[in-house]
Amino acid sequence: SRPGWSVDADVVVVGSGVAGLTVALRCAAAGRKVTVVTKALLDDGSTRWAQGGIAAALGDGDTPGQHLDDTLVAGAGLCDEDAVRALVTEGPDAVRRLIATGAQFDTDDVTGEILLTREGGHHRRRIAHAGGDATGAEISRALVEAVRAAGIETIEHALVLDLLKDADGRAAGVSLHVMGEGQRDGVGAVRAGAVVLATGGMGQVFSATTNPAVSTGDGVALALRAGAEISDLEFVQFHPTVLWLGPGSEGQQPLVSEAVRGEGAHLVDADGHRFMVGQHELAELAPRDIVAKGIMRRMQETGAEHMFLDARHFGAQMWEHRFPTILAACRAHGIDPVTEPIPVAPAAHYASGGVRTDLHGRTTVPGLYACGEVACTGVHGANRLASNSLLEGLVFAERIASDIGTSADAAAGREPADETARASCLVAPEARQAVQRIMTAGAGVLRSAESLRVAAEQLEALHTDCAAPPEAAGTESWEATNLLLVARVLVAAALRREETRGCHWREDRPDRDDTAWRRHLLVTLGPDRT
Ligand code: SIN
Repeated sequence: SRPGWSVDADVVVVGSGVAGLTVALRCAAAGRKVTVVTKALLDDGSTRWAQGGIAAALGDGDTPGQHLDDTLVAGAGLCDEDAVRALVTEGPDAVRRLIATGAQFDTDDVTGEILLTREGGHHRRRIAHAGGDATGAEISRALVEAVRAAGIETIEHALVLDLLKDADGRAAGVSLHVMGEGQRDGVGAVRAGAVVLATGGMGQVFSATTNPAVSTGDGVALALRAGAEISDLEFVQFHPTVLWLGPGSEGQQPLVSEAVRGEGAHLVDADGHRFMVGQHELAELAPRDIVAKGIMRRMQETGAEHMFLDARHFGAQMWEHRFPTILAACRAHGIDPVTEPIPVAPAAHYASGGVRTDLHGRTTVPGLYACGEVACTGVHGANRLASNSLLEGLVFAERIASDIGTSADAAAGREPADETARASCLVAPEARQAVQRIMTAGAGVLRSAESLRVAAEQLEALHTDCAAPPEAAGTESWEATNLLLVARVLVAAALRREETRGCHWREDRPDRDDTAWRRHLLVTLGPDRT
């Protein structure tokens, strides 16, 4: 589609979670003209749903080195150690700057020190939290207020379509489909010398996920169509403890934070047996992939559809004070964690892979940056350590802002050479549910060559069933098209990786194979960009 309106900026940030808003604030503070575009409202998106907290070596006796060790172990041999080192050493000060921006973390009433909890894979108390279990909501509140106070231009209800490039192939802005924003309604463009993708994840590629409805892989799809390199898409993290709402539940499901286990809750089967004890030295606090697998195995052994998280021993006061969000979500679904164990099962939670970047957040397309869940910086490897995601968003946002600040090229005005959307044909909105069912059946927690091959064939059939040219399409068609594209790439990667590693669990290849597979799967699309 050709843009009907356009806006000029030095930097366009696509997305408004912790990563996007931090880049925007830091670039604006350095004097850049920044425009933030976001698909729904500024505070929609995944950041606001984060519960447990943000990991950083802030506690007495903790060190970035210990945080590094835990991150590398969780990443199962595929982390980029330099990226992890940047994350853990710059993390504590980045959190302090977030506090200076206005985020209020829970502190000890007497000492005023930040309270720290534990989560899976961490050998120490290292997770700062806010509002008990509403950390993301507090971070989002503080950043949205700061962005508004700084007078940064924002465009809401703006679905990003494609990257615009100049005649040299450098990023020159983005095209957008905007709804209900007055003069900027319809297809338009923000032209800018630096484009920062901070669009979050792709959890909606599966039927049941902790991700909100807006997490449809738009950034990865855009980057693929723009010719950027994508990496590690097969590593989808399934959160072990998501409130089980009944068979076949679809859409966003309530999370029950790892921090509940961090404070001493037990995973038990229907007979009350603690099945994680003996499976790993950290039992319920093993890294997330191990706990998810432990739950799935026990479900298979017992024929149950879910396991239970038992935290009755917390008592009413602790539940109300420490985990008010989770308590309310459980009670809204008729479960009282004070008096009964919570039914839980794994659900899709986080994309460890994404748009490949270097240590400054640069993608393989000049002028295009990626930050947060959409990016693959190398810090997560084959399995992200709990509560490293908000931290990654913060630390790499600051790195990107500083790269844009020092690069003469990055913010110089660009003339887009081609403003036509790159997707040649879009699928109908109904393809979204079809993708979710195919992915859940064939590429979920447990995968095999056979299940992945069936999924690949079904996705290809959907792809050839192309319905509408981009000009005629609305937001829902674009989202379905993006989901289908990322699903196809994900399944192809999962099929190629013939081993089990981190959160990629192949039933037909149960072992980790360091000889053949201690490497990344990189993907770029061919010239037809489909
Ligand atoms: C949680 O609170 O369990 C989620 C933390 C995370 O995804 O890192």
